[in-house]
Amino acid sequence: MNIILSPNKREHFLPMPVVLISTADKEGNRNIAPYANVMPILRPLDLIAIASWLKRDTLDNIRSTKEFVINVPSADLVDEVMICSRNYPDDVDEFAEANLGAKASQKVTAPSIEGCIAWMECTLDREVVEEGKYSIIIGKVVHLEVDDEYLAENGDMDFEKARPLSVMLGETGMYYTVPAGTGDYREYAEMFTGGN
Ligand SMILES: Cc1cc2nc3c(=O)[nH]c(=O)nc-3n(C[C@H](O)[C@H](O)[C@H](O)COP(=O)(O)O)c2cc1C
Repeated sequence: MNIILSPNKREHFLPMPVVLISTADKEGNRNIAPYANVMPILRPLDLIAIASWLKRDTLDNIRSTKEFVINVPSADLVDEVMICSRNYPDDVDEFAEANLGAKASQKVTAPSIEGCIAWMECTLDREVVEEGKYSIIIGKVVHLEVDDEYLAENGDMDFEKARPLSVMLGETGMYYTVPAGTGDYREYAEMFTGGN
């Protein structure tokens, strides 16, 4: 038997990556917020989109400084993710609140977060805004770095070791999850049969 659900329950059936977005305002106040509405825009481009409600310090900071860092946390950082999800006033330093260390970024002034798996330093490419509601921020990754502790010998992420955090939504809360391999590894070439 199939059950019909409200269309706004899409994420109850779609696992989403959880990232921590670090930014700073013009005065240097540091901010961190978890985001799960995150989508790279097509392999092999260097763009990545995030969806943000308008009432976010993260969005204000991205608009004023034109930059941000997408930090990829492991499942060990769930408590810190939840601390950073609280709606603190904009001058509260979420690095201090969550006891997270800052790591100097290479290409942007926004600080990165120590202890993450990987870091995507981004500049604001453009925004697609639904006035009064939300913004889709398109970032250009200008520097990508990974902790080699989480790499397999072939240079790919060892996701079972790294345990990058993802989330599934439920009726009254969120189920934090991690990816598990199916045993399949398929070459990209398998998708192409002479054309594309
Ligand atoms: C797992 C998780 C994922 C979230 N994803 C988003 C998201 O994609 N977009 C968004 O606008 N808010 C999202 N939020 C809510 C923000 O993280 C939260 O409102 C935070 O306080 C915003 O902080 P800021 O005002 O400092 O930017 C998420 C929260 C959690 C716990």
